[in-house]
Amino acid sequence: MNALPTRPAADASRPSRVRIRHLQDAKDAGRRFAMLTSYGTFTARAFEAAGIDVLLVGDSVGTVVLGYESTTHTTHADMLTFTGAVARSVSRPLVVADLAFGSYQTSVQDAVSHAIELVRAGAHAVKLEGGQIYADRVRAIVEAGIPVMGHLGFTPQSVHALGGHRVQGRDHAAADHLADDALALQEAGAFAVVLELVPAGVAERITEVLRIPTIGIGAGPSCDGQVLVWQDMAGLSDFRGTFVRRFAEVGDDLRRAAGAYREAVETGAYPSREHSFD
Ligand code: KIV
Repeated sequence: MNALPTRPAADASRPSRVRIRHLQDAKDAGRRFAMLTSYGTFTARAFEAAGIDVLLVGDSVGTVVLGYESTTHTTHADMLTFTGAVARSVSRPLVVADLAFGSYQTSVQDAVSHAIELVRAGAHAVKLEGGQIYADRVRAIVEAGIPVMGHLGFTPQSVHALGGHRVQGRDHAAADHLADDALALQEAGAFAVVLELVPAGVAERITEVLRIPTIGIGAGPSCDGQVLVWQDMAGLSDFRGTFVRRFAEVGDDLRRAAGAYREAVETGAYPSREHSFD
Protein backbone atom coordinates (compact mmCIF):
# COMPACT_ATOMS: atom_id res chain seq x y z
CA MET A 1 0.00 0.00 0.00
CA ASN A 2 1.31 3.40 -0.94
CA ALA A 3 1.76 5.73 1.96
CA LEU A 4 0.00 9.07 1.58
CA PRO A 5 2.44 11.83 0.76
CA THR A 6 3.27 13.67 3.92
CA ARG A 7 3.53 17.42 4.13
CA PRO A 8 6.59 18.83 5.80
CA ALA A 9 5.63 19.62 9.40
CA ALA A 10 4.76 23.30 9.85
CA ASP A 11 7.37 25.10 11.92
CA ALA A 12 5.44 26.69 14.77
CA SER A 13 8.27 29.15 15.30
CA ARG A 14 7.98 30.44 11.67
CA PRO A 15 4.27 30.99 11.08
CA SER A 16 3.27 32.28 7.65
CA ARG A 17 1.56 35.20 9.39
CA VAL A 18 2.66 36.36 12.82
CA ARG A 19 -0.18 36.81 15.29
CA ILE A 20 -0.05 37.96 18.90
CA ARG A 21 -0.48 34.35 20.02
CA HIS A 22 2.80 33.44 18.31
CA LEU A 23 4.63 35.95 20.52
CA GLN A 24 3.05 34.35 23.56
CA ASP A 25 4.02 30.91 22.21
CA ALA A 26 7.59 32.18 21.81
CA LYS A 27 7.74 33.35 25.42
CA ASP A 28 6.20 30.10 26.66
CA ALA A 29 8.76 28.10 24.67
CA GLY A 30 11.66 30.30 25.80
CA ARG A 31 12.25 31.48 22.22
CA ARG A 32 13.28 35.09 21.68
CA PHE A 33 11.84 37.23 18.88
CA ALA A 34 12.96 40.36 17.07
CA MET A 35 11.04 43.56 16.43
CA LEU A 36 12.32 46.47 14.34
CA THR A 37 10.85 49.82 13.55
CA SER A 38 9.80 50.39 9.96
CA TYR A 39 8.21 53.42 8.36
CA GLY A 40 8.14 52.63 4.65
CA THR A 41 7.79 50.11 1.86
CA PHE A 42 11.38 49.10 1.21
CA THR A 43 12.44 48.67 4.83
CA ALA A 44 9.23 46.79 5.59
CA ARG A 45 9.89 44.39 2.70
CA ALA A 46 13.56 43.98 3.62
CA PHE A 47 12.74 43.25 7.25
CA GLU A 48 10.01 40.81 6.25
CA ALA A 49 12.49 39.03 3.97
CA ALA A 50 14.92 38.88 6.91
CA GLY A 51 12.30 37.11 9.02
CA ILE A 52 11.63 39.92 11.49
CA ASP A 53 8.46 38.90 13.34
CA VAL A 54 7.16 42.31 14.43
CA LEU A 55 7.36 45.64 12.62
CA LEU A 56 6.79 48.67 14.81
CA VAL A 57 5.58 51.79 13.09
CA GLY A 58 6.98 53.84 15.94
CA ASP A 59 6.22 57.45 16.62
CA SER A 60 10.03 57.69 16.40
CA VAL A 61 9.19 58.31 12.73
CA GLY A 62 8.90 61.92 13.89
CA THR A 63 12.55 62.11 14.92
CA VAL A 64 14.25 59.74 12.46
CA VAL A 65 12.25 60.57 9.31
CA LEU A 66 10.41 63.86 9.78
CA GLY A 67 13.12 65.84 11.57
CA TYR A 68 11.17 66.66 14.74
CA GLU A 69 13.11 67.18 17.95
CA SER A 70 11.07 64.65 19.92
CA THR A 71 8.19 62.23 19.41
CA THR A 72 5.85 64.71 21.09
CA HIS A 73 5.60 66.36 17.65
CA THR A 74 4.57 63.20 15.79
CA THR A 75 0.88 63.49 14.96
CA HIS A 76 -1.87 60.93 14.60
CA ALA A 77 -2.05 61.89 10.91
CA ASP A 78 1.67 61.06 10.58
CA MET A 79 1.02 57.68 12.19
CA LEU A 80 -1.83 56.90 9.80
CA THR A 81 0.33 57.69 6.77
CA PHE A 82 3.33 55.60 7.80
CA THR A 83 1.24 52.75 9.20
CA GLY A 84 -0.51 52.45 5.86
CA ALA A 85 2.80 52.41 4.00
CA VAL A 86 4.19 49.56 6.11
CA ALA A 87 0.99 47.54 6.30
CA ARG A 88 0.49 47.61 2.52
CA SER A 89 4.03 46.34 1.96
CA VAL A 90 4.14 43.11 3.97
CA SER A 91 2.04 40.06 4.67
CA ARG A 92 3.93 38.06 7.32
CA PRO A 93 5.02 40.32 10.20
CA LEU A 94 2.75 41.60 12.92
CA VAL A 95 2.40 45.36 12.33
CA VAL A 96 2.17 47.41 15.52
CA ALA A 97 1.49 51.15 15.32
CA ASP A 98 2.13 53.74 18.01
CA LEU A 99 -0.69 55.88 19.32
CA ALA A 100 0.72 59.40 18.91
CA PHE A 101 1.20 61.83 21.79
CA GLY A 102 -2.14 63.51 22.46
CA SER A 103 -4.20 60.79 20.78
CA TYR A 104 -4.92 58.75 23.93
CA GLN A 105 -3.99 60.85 26.97
CA THR A 106 -7.12 62.99 26.67
CA SER A 107 -9.79 60.32 27.21
CA VAL A 108 -10.65 56.65 26.92
CA GLN A 109 -12.91 57.48 23.99
CA ASP A 110 -10.10 59.29 22.14
CA ALA A 111 -7.83 56.32 22.77
CA VAL A 112 -10.33 53.85 21.31
CA SER A 113 -11.25 55.94 18.28
CA HIS A 114 -7.59 56.66 17.38
CA ALA A 115 -6.72 52.99 17.84
CA ILE A 116 -9.56 52.07 15.48
CA GLU A 117 -8.20 54.51 12.88
CA LEU A 118 -4.75 52.93 13.10
CA VAL A 119 -6.28 49.50 12.51
CA ARG A 120 -8.23 50.88 9.55
CA ALA A 121 -4.87 52.14 8.22
CA GLY A 122 -3.52 48.59 8.43
CA ALA A 123 -2.14 48.06 11.95
CA HIS A 124 -2.74 44.71 13.64
CA ALA A 125 -2.09 46.14 17.10
CA VAL A 126 -1.36 49.48 18.74
CA LYS A 127 1.20 50.58 21.33
CA LEU A 128 0.84 53.24 23.99
CA GLU A 129 3.16 54.57 26.68
CA GLY A 130 2.40 54.42 30.40
CA GLY A 131 1.25 51.96 33.05
CA GLN A 132 -1.44 52.08 35.72
CA ILE A 133 -2.63 55.56 34.75
CA TYR A 134 -3.59 54.36 31.27
CA ALA A 135 -4.82 50.87 32.18
CA ASP A 136 -8.38 52.03 31.47
CA ARG A 137 -7.34 52.99 27.90
CA VAL A 138 -5.68 49.61 27.39
CA ARG A 139 -8.75 47.75 28.65
CA ALA A 140 -11.14 49.75 26.46
CA ILE A 141 -9.02 49.30 23.30
CA VAL A 142 -8.69 45.57 23.97
CA GLU A 143 -12.48 45.38 24.50
CA ALA A 144 -12.87 47.02 21.10
CA GLY A 145 -11.01 44.03 19.65
CA ILE A 146 -7.62 45.65 19.16
CA PRO A 147 -4.47 44.12 20.70
CA VAL A 148 -2.42 46.56 22.79
CA MET A 149 1.32 46.61 23.45
CA GLY A 150 2.39 48.59 26.51
CA HIS A 151 5.56 50.69 26.84
CA LEU A 152 7.26 51.37 30.19
CA GLY A 153 10.54 52.67 31.56
CA PHE A 154 11.79 55.63 29.55
CA THR A 155 8.68 56.69 27.66
CA PRO A 156 9.79 59.16 24.97
CA GLN A 157 6.47 61.04 24.85
CA SER A 158 7.16 62.07 28.48
CA VAL A 159 10.73 63.17 27.75
CA HIS A 160 10.17 66.61 29.30
CA ALA A 161 8.53 65.26 32.46
CA LEU A 162 11.29 62.66 32.84
CA GLY A 163 14.03 65.27 32.45
CA GLY A 164 15.62 63.84 29.31
CA HIS A 165 16.69 60.39 28.11
CA ARG A 166 17.40 58.67 31.42
CA VAL A 167 17.42 55.11 32.67
CA GLN A 168 14.26 54.52 34.72
CA GLY A 169 13.63 52.26 37.74
CA ARG A 170 17.11 52.51 39.25
CA ASP A 171 16.05 52.66 42.90
CA HIS A 172 13.93 50.14 44.77
CA ALA A 173 10.75 52.20 44.85
CA ALA A 174 10.98 53.07 41.16
CA ALA A 175 11.66 49.43 40.24
CA ASP A 176 8.64 48.29 42.28
CA HIS A 177 6.53 50.94 40.59
CA LEU A 178 7.65 49.70 37.16
CA ALA A 179 6.77 46.11 38.09
CA ASP A 180 3.33 47.25 39.31
CA ASP A 181 2.81 49.16 36.05
CA ALA A 182 3.74 46.08 34.03
CA LEU A 183 1.31 43.92 36.00
CA ALA A 184 -1.43 46.54 35.57
CA LEU A 185 -0.92 46.47 31.79
CA GLN A 186 -1.06 42.68 31.75
CA GLU A 187 -4.20 42.76 33.91
CA ALA A 188 -5.79 45.28 31.52
CA GLY A 189 -5.23 42.89 28.61
CA ALA A 190 -1.97 44.05 26.99
CA PHE A 191 -0.32 41.28 24.96
CA ALA A 192 3.27 42.49 25.45
CA VAL A 193 5.21 45.29 27.13
CA VAL A 194 8.19 47.24 25.79
CA LEU A 195 10.76 48.04 28.49
CA GLU A 196 12.96 50.98 27.46
CA LEU A 197 16.08 52.13 29.33
CA VAL A 198 15.55 49.93 32.37
CA PRO A 199 18.35 48.30 34.42
CA ALA A 200 18.94 44.72 33.25
CA GLY A 201 18.07 43.26 36.66
CA VAL A 202 14.76 45.10 36.81
CA ALA A 203 13.85 43.99 33.28
CA GLU A 204 14.76 40.41 34.20
CA ARG A 205 12.51 40.55 37.27
CA ILE A 206 9.58 41.96 35.27
CA THR A 207 10.10 39.38 32.52
CA GLU A 208 9.94 36.59 35.10
CA VAL A 209 6.87 37.99 36.83
CA LEU A 210 4.84 38.69 33.68
CA ARG A 211 2.95 35.98 31.83
CA ILE A 212 3.04 38.12 28.63
CA PRO A 213 6.26 38.84 26.69
CA THR A 214 8.55 41.76 27.45
CA ILE A 215 10.41 43.47 24.61
CA GLY A 216 13.58 45.27 25.58
CA ILE A 217 15.38 48.32 24.25
CA GLY A 218 18.20 49.23 26.56
CA ALA A 219 16.85 46.71 29.07
CA GLY A 220 19.54 44.01 29.05
CA PRO A 221 19.55 40.47 27.70
CA SER A 222 16.67 38.87 29.63
CA CYS A 223 13.63 40.23 27.82
CA ASP A 224 11.58 37.88 25.65
CA GLY A 225 11.99 40.06 22.57
CA GLN A 226 14.20 42.95 21.47
CA VAL A 227 13.47 46.10 19.49
CA LEU A 228 15.68 48.76 17.93
CA VAL A 229 15.03 51.77 15.75
CA TRP A 230 16.21 50.48 12.37
CA GLN A 231 18.35 53.51 11.55
CA ASP A 232 20.31 52.87 14.78
CA MET A 233 20.58 49.11 14.11
CA ALA A 234 21.74 49.63 10.52
CA GLY A 235 24.15 52.50 11.16
CA LEU A 236 22.23 55.21 9.33
CA SER A 237 21.66 57.46 12.34
CA ASP A 238 24.39 59.06 14.43
CA PHE A 239 22.95 57.60 17.62
CA ARG A 240 25.46 55.37 19.40
CA GLY A 241 23.75 54.68 22.73
CA THR A 242 25.25 52.02 25.01
CA PHE A 243 22.43 49.63 24.15
CA VAL A 244 22.73 49.95 20.38
CA ARG A 245 24.68 47.48 18.28
CA ARG A 246 25.23 48.60 14.70
CA PHE A 247 24.75 45.59 12.42
CA ALA A 248 25.69 47.52 9.27
CA GLU A 249 27.05 50.92 8.22
CA VAL A 250 24.31 51.92 5.83
CA GLY A 251 25.12 55.61 6.32
CA ASP A 252 28.68 55.08 5.01
CA ASP A 253 27.36 53.11 2.02
CA LEU A 254 24.85 55.83 1.23
CA ARG A 255 27.44 58.61 1.45
CA ARG A 256 29.77 56.60 -0.81
CA ALA A 257 26.98 55.94 -3.33
CA ALA A 258 25.90 59.59 -3.40
CA GLY A 259 29.51 60.72 -3.82
CA ALA A 260 30.10 58.25 -6.68
CA TYR A 261 26.87 59.40 -8.34
CA ARG A 262 27.84 63.07 -8.03
CA GLU A 263 31.26 62.39 -9.51
CA ALA A 264 29.81 60.34 -12.39
CA VAL A 265 27.34 63.11 -13.23
CA GLU A 266 29.96 65.86 -12.99
CA THR A 267 32.47 63.98 -15.15
CA GLY A 268 29.89 62.89 -17.72
CA ALA A 269 30.39 59.16 -16.96
CA TYR A 270 26.68 58.91 -16.20
CA PRO A 271 24.29 58.71 -17.94
CA SER A 272 25.86 56.89 -20.90
CA ARG A 273 24.34 55.27 -24.06
CA GLU A 274 23.29 52.21 -22.07
CA HIS A 275 21.07 54.40 -19.89
CA SER A 276 19.50 56.12 -22.93
CA PHE A 277 16.52 55.44 -25.19
CA ASP A 278 16.87 55.22 -29.01
O1 KIV B 1 8.74 54.75 18.52
C1 KIV B 1 9.58 53.87 18.70
O2 KIV B 1 10.48 53.63 17.87
C2 KIV B 1 9.50 53.07 19.91
C3 KIV B 1 10.62 52.12 20.18
C4 KIV B 1 11.80 52.87 20.64
C5 KIV B 1 10.23 51.07 21.15
O3 KIV B 1 8.58 53.21 20.65
